Amino acid sequence: MIFEQIATGGCQSYLVGCADTCAAALIDPEQSQVDRYLALAARESLRIRYLVDTHTHADHFSGTRELARRLEVPVVMHRASPAPFVDMRLDDGEMLAFGKLRLRVMYTPGHTRDSMCLVAEDRVFTGDTLLIGGTGRTDLPTGDPAALHASLFERLLKLDPALEVYPAHDYKGQGHTTIGRELAGNPRLQKSGRAEFVEMMRNLNLSMPTHLTEALRTNMSGGKTVAQLLAEAAATVPFMSLEELKARVESGESDLIVLDVRERDAYEDAHIPGARLLPRGQLELRVNQDLPDPTPRILAYCEFGRISTLAAATLREMGYQRAVALDGGMKAWREAGFPTKTGREA
Ligand SMILES: [Fe+2]
Repeated sequence: MIFEQIATGGCQSYLVGCADTCAAALIDPEQSQVDRYLALAARESLRIRYLVDTHTHADHFSGTRELARRLEVPVVMHRASPAPFVDMRLDDGEMLAFGKLRLRVMYTPGHTRDSMCLVAEDRVFTGDTLLIGGTGRTDLPTGDPAALHASLFERLLKLDPALEVYPAHDYKGQGHTTIGRELAGNPRLQKSGRAEFVEMMRNLNLSMPTHLTEALRTNMSGGKTVAQLLAEAAATVPFMSLEELKARVESGESDLIVLDVRERDAYEDAHIPGARLLPRGQLELRVNQDLPDPTPRILAYCEFGRISTLAAATLREMGYQRAVALDGGMKAWREAGFPTKTGREA
């Protein structure tokens, strides 16, 4: 077995490959690491055949959807997953077979209704059902402490104590554990009575994950995150530095159109000298009138440098092939002490 554990902050992803056939599965990939997984698979001479999410993640953005688009391989989840884009839905006791490897599904609801563990040879990928020194929480959507108790004590913890445990989260860099070690030392597993366990889980008072709403929206629908939209736009657009723009503004360069895509009040408060106002929200509707010539170089800027990236990408899509975005925004420009103007331009 070829095996790679990839940590993104506390999130753990796993690339599992068959050494004989080079077929592999990628478990719980994270959106921001898509290029890393592809590079890793290439380095190990592996062909990813399946993209597996152990459950609907509420705390980070799944990379399965984008990888599926790029690799044209199926997204795999448990049958209970609410995501419409899942290509292959697995049920308890079923297996994914790739090369000589087998990933066997053990349905373990509790952290979420669609949580599953995957057993492969000497190890088990536990998702958030069992963590190192902890368990997944049960207070997020579809969580159920009684179900988690049953999944743990009636199923997962009855597996061979020597089985290595690879969880979806590990915040302390411990890597992995074993069933036996967790049975002996995991504080959450010391109360094996169902009522006590449920009571303990109900009183953890954990804070909400940072991106809960966006993670659930995108992981359940297959839609894009804001970071993804920005990254896609940024990939199509060249940037200009604050210093470069300042030098060009000061030299009075006449063939550069500087476009402020913020709202009017922000523009009139302070803008880059010579900049024209064309708010992002009106861009498509006003370009014919405001930018009749598609050939000059256009630089878009906004307050932080994000909306201007989207604006420059839109302009390029519409045929303004020399549109660029400022690397940074008006905030950084002001903080650098660069010149500004107030009110309307003559
Ligand atoms: Fe989770």
